Amino acid sequence: MAQLQNDTFLRALMREPTPYTPVWMMRQAGRYLPEYRESRKTAGSFLQLCKNPSFATEVTLQPLDRYPLLDASILFSDILTVPDAMGLGLYFEEGEGPKFDRTLREEADIKKLHVPDMAELQYVFDAVSSIRTAVNGRVPLIGFAGSPWTLATYMVEGKGGTDFLTIKKMAYARPDLLHHILEVTAQTVMQYLNAQIAAGAQAVMIFDSWGGALSHKAYLEFSLPYMQKIINGLTREADGRIVPRVAFTKGGALWLEAQAEIGADAIGLDWTIDIGQARKRVGDKVALQGNLDPAILLSTTEAIEKEVASILGSYGHGNGHVFNLGHGITQWTPPENAAAMISAVRNFSTQYHE
Ligand code: CP3
Repeated sequence: MAQLQNDTFLRALMREPTPYTPVWMMRQAGRYLPEYRESRKTAGSFLQLCKNPSFATEVTLQPLDRYPLLDASILFSDILTVPDAMGLGLYFEEGEGPKFDRTLREEADIKKLHVPDMAELQYVFDAVSSIRTAVNGRVPLIGFAGSPWTLATYMVEGKGGTDFLTIKKMAYARPDLLHHILEVTAQTVMQYLNAQIAAGAQAVMIFDSWGGALSHKAYLEFSLPYMQKIINGLTREADGRIVPRVAFTKGGALWLEAQAEIGADAIGLDWTIDIGQARKRVGDKVALQGNLDPAILLSTTEAIEKEVASILGSYGHGNGHVFNLGHGITQWTPPENAAAMISAVRNFSTQYHE
């Protein structure tokens, strides 16, 4: 394996000194890039990009080639490969987001749910090794998975971004059934992330995109403990280096203190909290990653620079911040606005580091 040339991202996640604040963007390979749309057309569909390691490698590298100041790459895939491998039948309808052929609602189906053979996900591990070779040590490669709660919302509801009434009804009426789904999914995600680490992932991130839909008590019962369980079972070192773990709950800033206790090295922030306040609340327990509102990238260079400066200033001097968006970049983002954001982070952040 090529020697890593830029480890600022890994160092910042471990709260070690860096000469500037590293930056990457959630969903940095995606539809806002014309070269991505071109690759997707050639591949035939989004899922074919994910399932073919050479396409997955091609699109992972696109943002790195366009934006040489990015400090990390992320596996091109989707969190929903896991429920797909668990037999639910993932498909995408143009413009409608992900859906499943089958849902998990009946007790008999739920009892049958089991950890799938990781061979079902071999295409993901092949993509990780292929990307790691192609990135060639320029920056680290992030592996990822969905949190058990977030994956369960898709498995029970059959689609995303709903009002979550079916799964919440289960949580309140039959918590035993939901805990069974979450337990099997946590074991699956743990094996899945460990296989990504074995294939070459240098950091891992757990996306809890729908944790913020839960009540206070329900988050602490149905989401956070399962992320903790996964993190406790992860391989800590690969190639003689720590593999940092990031946990991100969208809408989760209410629970920062609790998140800082689950064994993650860094916590992802959306844009709803002031990052300086977040830093005070977690102290020196974890690093923070985020928290630019992705909608800012639809505006002007001046507005983008002002917001980048404000977040960097609010975090203040010292280590432990990875600059990122508070959620995925939108497909309507002009690529030059992402470039303006990335340059602003590099230019404005050196003053906060020794
Ligand atoms: O960051 C990256 O560049 C890596 C790729 C990545 C994708 N999905 C590719 C993708 C990552 C890290 C994900 C994670 C993911 N997928 C999450 C967690 C993060 C989040 O956004 O909250 C979730 C909830 C999903 C499920 C999912 N996949 C949804 C809801 C959608 C449709 C909504 C949308 O933005 O289109 C997808 C599709 C998807 N995943 C696309 C990409 C590039 C767009 C597919 C296309 O080309 O049409």
